[in-house]
Amino acid sequence: MDDDTIRADSIAKYRARAAGYDDTCGPTWPIRERAIAGLQLQPGQRVLDVGCGTGLSLPLLRDRVGDQGCVWGFDQSPEMLAQARTRITEAGWRNVAVFETSAQTLLLPEPVDALLFHYTHDILRSPSAVARLLACALPGACVAIAGIKYFPRWLAPLNLWVYLKNRGYNGAPGELHSPWDLIAPYLDDWRFESTQWGMGYLAFGRVSATNSRSCD
Ligand SMILES: C[S@@+](CC[C@H](N)C(=O)[O-])C[C@H]1O[C@@H](n2cnc3c(N)ncnc32)[C@H](O)[C@@H]1O
Repeated sequence: MDDDTIRADSIAKYRARAAGYDDTCGPTWPIRERAIAGLQLQPGQRVLDVGCGTGLSLPLLRDRVGDQGCVWGFDQSPEMLAQARTRITEAGWRNVAVFETSAQTLLLPEPVDALLFHYTHDILRSPSAVARLLACALPGACVAIAGIKYFPRWLAPLNLWVYLKNRGYNGAPGELHSPWDLIAPYLDDWRFESTQWGMGYLAFGRVSATNSRSCD
């Protein structure tokens, strides 16, 4: 399937899911916290929340970069992003901004020090999205990725359930054996662990200094 078809399917799914989305995120909250802690953010840094959805990660990211830092998020779903905007307005943050755009066409004012991919399967499976996001990162930028994957072989009968679960949220629900494999070759210091008894993963790396893409 091409990017446009996958994106259209995802936008339709999140139109239906947006209102109840936050209520479904309780079980993965510790993974979100660990992913963000692993970014090792420093006060004053710029961080990008990839496919930020309703903005659940924004307060955690802002806490770490402080008043002098900058948190940017983007998402293609207007309904998800509306909730992120409400969160920003209610908190009164002046250094947090979200953009309605696709990952494939994202433009940022400046490259970032860190990238968070928290449950962004469709984005990770799009070569053009991965290329664009790497272009928006400084060499050495810290990357954290959390998401869903297939169980190991000995639990393979459960993978139909994993696939169906993923299909409820993504336009490209397959490719769950190693969903990180388009971005991992561009990252140094790769660290990986399974989560949720093998149906999830958490990975970290740094954008390779030889990544020569340009932000604009
Ligand atoms: C499972 S949600 C995760 C939201 C958020 N990262 C979180 O952890 O709560 C996936 C998000 O990715 C967004 N998304 C999927 N494909 C996208 C694309 N190509 N460009 C921008 N956003 C995309 C969806 O609209 C959705 O909000």
